[in-house]
Amino acid sequence: MSAAGSDSTQPPSPATLGQLRDSGWESVPVKDEVRRNAVARISADEPLVPGVVFAQTNDVPSLDAAVGPRTGCILLEPIQGEGGIHPLTEEFVAAARALADELGALLLFDEIQTGVGRTGTFFAFEQLGVRPDSVTLAKGLANGLPIGCLLVADGRTGAFEPGDHASTFGGNPVTSAAALAVLDEIGPELLNEVAAKGKTTHDWLEALPGVVEVRGRGLMIGAELDRPAAPVIDACREHGVLVGSAGQKVLRITPPLTIAPPDLEHGLSVLSEVLA
Ligand SMILES: Cc1ncc(COP(=O)(O)O)c(C=O)c1O
Repeated sequence: MSAAGSDSTQPPSPATLGQLRDSGWESVPVKDEVRRNAVARISADEPLVPGVVFAQTNDVPSLDAAVGPRTGCILLEPIQGEGGIHPLTEEFVAAARALADELGALLLFDEIQTGVGRTGTFFAFEQLGVRPDSVTLAKGLANGLPIGCLLVADGRTGAFEPGDHASTFGGNPVTSAAALAVLDEIGPELLNEVAAKGKTTHDWLEALPGVVEVRGRGLMIGAELDRPAAPVIDACREHGVLVGSAGQKVLRITPPLTIAPPDLEHGLSVLSEVLA
C-alpha cells in the first residue's frame, strides 16, 4: 500500500465502478495506526486484496479514520454473518453513506448472505434507511445452485461494462432459470412470513437457558451462548436438527425461508431440550 498524498496531480476519487477499477485499490489512505494494523494483519496470515483498510463494526470514528480523499469505496455487510451475526446500526450505515458522498466514493453492500429475503425484506439495506451504489447477491439467489451477481445503481456504472468481469459459468441457463424462479416466489407474502417466523424464533431463543444474546433480523439469527456452540450443534444433529455456527459461542439459525411453522417449532424444541 502506498501512502496518500495531497499531490494535485493525483486522480480524483472514483465516483463510478469504472473509475474505481481504473484508479486501483492500492492508494486507500488511512491514518498511520489504522494502516499499520491493516498491514500487520494482511502480512501476518491473510491473503487479502491489497489496499483494503478495515474499520471497527459500528464505530463511526474508526470508519472516519479509515477513509480519505483517495478512498474508492466503502464496503459493508449489513449483518456480519461469519463474524457472529452482528447487525450494523443505522447510525453507522448513515455515516458510511455520508462519508462516501463527501469523498465521491462508492458505497457497496455485500448482501451475499443477507440478500434475497433472508432478513424479511428483499435487501437488508431496506431496513437501514440508506441506498447503496452497488450490491452483491449470491447464496439464496438460485436456491442452492451456484450464482453471484453485482447490481449497480443507475449513473454509477461508468466504464464498467458487461463482460469486463467474466466468469466461466456465469449466466448459465440452468442456474439463471433457478434464480428467475426464486425471484418469482419472493414477494410481500413470503417476506412477511419470513419476518413473522423470525420474530417467533427470536422470542423463543431469548427465553432459553444458556442464551446470552439474540441478534439478527428475519431468518438470519445468531444466538450467543454462555458455552461453546460445537457440542450444542452436535447434540442437535443427533436429534435430526441442523444448526450452524458463527464463531465459538454463536449458533447461527438460518432455516429455509419457506420452512413450515411446525417444522421451525420442532427445531426450536430440540434446541431447547439440548440447552436445558
Ligand atoms: C457475506 C459474504 N460475502 C461473501 C462470501 C463469499 O462467498 P464464497 O467465497 O463462498 O463464494 C460469503 C460466504 O460465506 C459471505 O457470507
